[in-house]
Amino acid sequence: MKITFYGQNSLAIETTGKHIIVDPFISGNPLSKDAVSVNDLKADYILLTHAHLDHVLDAEAIAKNTGATIVSNYEIAMHYQAKGCTVHPMNHGGSWSFDFGKVKYVNAIHTSTFDDGSDGGFPGGFVIEGEKNIYIAGDTALTMDMKLIPMRTKLDLAILPIGDNFTMGIEDAVIASDFVECNRVLGVHYNTFGYIEIDTQGAQDAFSKAGKELVLLDIGAFMEV
Ligand code: NI
Ligand code: MN
Repeated sequence: MKITFYGQNSLAIETTGKHIIVDPFISGNPLSKDAVSVNDLKADYILLTHAHLDHVLDAEAIAKNTGATIVSNYEIAMHYQAKGCTVHPMNHGGSWSFDFGKVKYVNAIHTSTFDDGSDGGFPGGFVIEGEKNIYIAGDTALTMDMKLIPMRTKLDLAILPIGDNFTMGIEDAVIASDFVECNRVLGVHYNTFGYIEIDTQGAQDAFSKAGKELVLLDIGAFMEV
């Protein structure tokens, strides 16, 4: 499984020959808009954790370019279905077996309103069980619900927000990695704008002090899981 980082919570996952885009916010991100061309992205699926603009900005364009299926909560799925996109609605606690693996939509503590004020349901994260098992937390606080994940799934990677202010910060992300019982973490949702600027070296030190690995990728860089 190859995971490429496009800034904020935007990821491209390649697994079993399928292309999955997560939370595409590229054309409006000063860090990625010149480095990554939205029109060149391949996608069979687009996973959206919640409706905030820094997670969905390019979803419609990519869905229409590629014919990819948008997978999200019911309200977000209906929002994109009304725009003519192909969707797969889910809701919290539910799983579905796709051709690349089994996806569960799990709890997140956050909000989920579209930029125009319309209802984006409740926010979530995704657990993917497949070639490798990963947890995409989305925007969330540290929550005890994270302890439910390892009861069902042995994770190979946890993708956690670390930017603070709107989500968990570094110290809570270290605890989250304990809760999900996964010591390999890809940090996301940091340094995109002023509210979420962090000391990246300090973040990596905090994880290594706890015996964990925090991977931080440059825009367009990838990791193998
Ligand atoms: Ni958000
Ligand atoms: Mn966000």
